[in-house]
Amino acid sequence: MRVGLIPETAYELMGLIAGEVPNPVIETFNGLLMVRSLVAACRLEILDTLAEGPLSAIDVASRAGTSPVPTERLLDVLVSLRYVRRKGDTFELLPVARRWLLKDSPDSVRDYVLWRHYEWEWISRLDDHVRTGASILGRGALDDDAWQLYQRAMRCLANLGSPEIAARTPVPQGATTMLDIGGAHGHLSATFCRRHPAMKAVVLELPEAIQASAPLLASENLGDRVVHRAGDARTDDFGDACWDLVVASNIVHNLTSDQCTSLTVRVARSLKPGGVFAIIDFTRPTSERATGQTPALMDLYFSLTSVSGAWSIEEMAHWQQTAGLKPYKALRMRRGAGSVIQAAKRPA
Ligand SMILES: C[S@@+](CC[C@H](N)C(=O)[O-])C[C@H]1O[C@@H](n2cnc3c(N)ncnc32)[C@H](O)[C@@H]1O
Repeated sequence: MRVGLIPETAYELMGLIAGEVPNPVIETFNGLLMVRSLVAACRLEILDTLAEGPLSAIDVASRAGTSPVPTERLLDVLVSLRYVRRKGDTFELLPVARRWLLKDSPDSVRDYVLWRHYEWEWISRLDDHVRTGASILGRGALDDDAWQLYQRAMRCLANLGSPEIAARTPVPQGATTMLDIGGAHGHLSATFCRRHPAMKAVVLELPEAIQASAPLLASENLGDRVVHRAGDARTDDFGDACWDLVVASNIVHNLTSDQCTSLTVRVARSLKPGGVFAIIDFTRPTSERATGQTPALMDLYFSLTSVSGAWSIEEMAHWQQTAGLKPYKALRMRRGAGSVIQAAKRPA
């Protein structure tokens, strides 16, 4: 999926085809304001005020505690973005906003949108990163509220991807033990455990992340079937031949090549014979054909915010082979915008 220019008139369409549209003018100005408009609408709870039904801009402003005139302008932007419909003086939510942006929707990605507020400042330093190579390893400096929002944001994405990951990962028959490295909120573990009634999972996380994500794990209502364990993926001993399934979902982009190699060796030793190690992550584009907009942007984002970036499928499979595992063919996620499941089996 990509974000791009969509003509609104026949004249614009012809201009686009003829190469007469100054793409950067629209992509930078519209893009900039679109992001901040959506973030503002979520932060100010403008959309939630419309949950019960249509309202005028004055009523929205009075409920949200905002100023009426700019509130109406923001609502008109949301109309142009097709999240809201305007009928005369009233505004009403369209289904896309109701499903993805309301606080109480089961599919809500509102917290993920709110997370943009923190990323905004980091991304403003992208040119420094490209010039100097220095990354912003800022998560350690987050306050408690920001850590909690980060964990809720990650939980929103996991809600979208976990059913597919749990359905497509090759889980050994009769599996009872799972280790979820960097598993944060534990939603992926919970999804596997619901599919495999005999399975119990341990979610290995940094202590500061456990503090922030413990309430999310508790809300899975799986009791001692899914528990947190404080640890560090870079150095921990995961044990010997004790896990049927180990997953590392969206964590290897935080680790250097040496750290990934070491992690995979320790995971391989910790798997039971026949056990499976699944790496789930965005992949680094390696050819022009494979370069999608989201993978390229993700690779740059991870480069800015971690010690490495995204890895290619070949690199993931190479760590697994080097550790004595037998890689399966990578599965491209249908809902993952460039994510893959790269699984490998410990030979029996
Ligand atoms: C992008 S989130 C992914 C969370 C979850 N696995 C998912 O797919 O939704 C990355 C998680 O890895 C954790 N993490 C990063 N470095 C780690 C390390 N060295 N050891 C353990 N966890 C780590 C972070 O705290 C964060 O919760």
